[in-house]
Amino acid sequence: MNAVKVGLLGLGTVGGGTATVLLKNAAEIARRAGRDIKVDFAATLDLGMAKQLGLGDDVRLTTDAFEVVNDPEVEIVVELIGGYSPARELVLQAIDNGKHVVTANKALIALHGAEIFARAEEKQVMVGFEAAVAGGIPIIKAIREGLAANRIQWIAGIINGTGNFILTEMRDKGRDFAEVLKEAQQLGYAEADPTFDVEGIDAAHKLTILGSLAFGMPLNFDATYTEGISKVSQLDVQYAGELGYRIKHLGITRRTDKGIELRVHPTLIPERRLIANVDGVMNAVLVQGDAVGPTLYYGAGAGDLPTASAVVADIVDVVRYMAIDHEHRVPVMGFKTAAIEEMPILPMEDVETGFYLRMKAVDRPGVLAEITRILSEQEISIEAFLQKEPSEGETEVNIIMLTHKVIEGRMNTALAQIEALDVITEKVTRIRWESLK
Ligand code: HSE
Repeated sequence: MNAVKVGLLGLGTVGGGTATVLLKNAAEIARRAGRDIKVDFAATLDLGMAKQLGLGDDVRLTTDAFEVVNDPEVEIVVELIGGYSPARELVLQAIDNGKHVVTANKALIALHGAEIFARAEEKQVMVGFEAAVAGGIPIIKAIREGLAANRIQWIAGIINGTGNFILTEMRDKGRDFAEVLKEAQQLGYAEADPTFDVEGIDAAHKLTILGSLAFGMPLNFDATYTEGISKVSQLDVQYAGELGYRIKHLGITRRTDKGIELRVHPTLIPERRLIANVDGVMNAVLVQGDAVGPTLYYGAGAGDLPTASAVVADIVDVVRYMAIDHEHRVPVMGFKTAAIEEMPILPMEDVETGFYLRMKAVDRPGVLAEITRILSEQEISIEAFLQKEPSEGETEVNIIMLTHKVIEGRMNTALAQIEALDVITEKVTRIRWESLK
């Protein structure tokens, strides 16, 4: 049988990795897919890159990605350019031309997935996006297929490698935020716009996808609460450690009686949890299903070859399912399209979590009594407490508290009252905490 012809859009970090894996493991991949898979046409702005990657003279090259998606020979288009545009136009054009699509583009799927999936359904082609979430970890397949028996209850994941790398270096080496970010960029982990990593947008793209896969609901990027790590201070990393916690940037989605939680924010988690010990650029996703209980998936969340591992797995899946009529293929989001249901997304005001609070207060009698009175009026109970001596040259003390779970709206009311006290000298730092039991 002839080799399946792949059109690659982009030969950057992930595109280069994909070309490398397809070449290096060609024989093993053919044994799995049942056919040879060959890069036939590649679009790159750097034509010399193809040679460096070892692509032979038989691979056609262009600087115009639309030539690849419009080429009659190409059967699978692999979009590894990233960003919203022209990725969206390229993918839609490829689908209109009857080609299957594989992409690592989380931003594209989170924002335009509904349009892309609808068009693919119409044209009866497949769209693979395993590499869009948690790089090399096969989390999409795990949720969509491996956990298909379960009613998923919640997912909590470290799904941005750059952010995890920064938090790990801050904790272990006391390194400076900006310097670590620069290193992540040099290593090819960070997004083209690194604010996507540090402000949580990249994680929100991925969490949007996970939430839809878990609960069978439409993609809800705009409703995903997104808070980054740029305000996490060295002090909070240290105090969290003293309380037995690590600060991780988590994406959390949970089914509750009132609606679905979709939230990305720095989170304290007990250091004894396995996921609290996922360090550096590694990712991990904890999925709680009603039948299976907790399951944890760990691996490299970024980088050329790990991400290529997921891209190539999708290509193999497409090749396996090509001969099957569309109706009998695995549904793109794990649920039959007609069974996808709108579900209410819980506003943050209604989300229930514990809180880490750090406040700077004048050191005099009655201050603590005032703070605890306000908390108790909002029915907020304290789980742990630390008071730190004033730093050199300062007169205020640092008061650190861990609270039991409380509805966030109540915490907001309490914090507004605490910040209005004249003994409190700056805005209270608050970081949510989760037990992840
Ligand atoms: N910038 C992303 C990260 C790359 O750091 O995780 C993988 O999506």
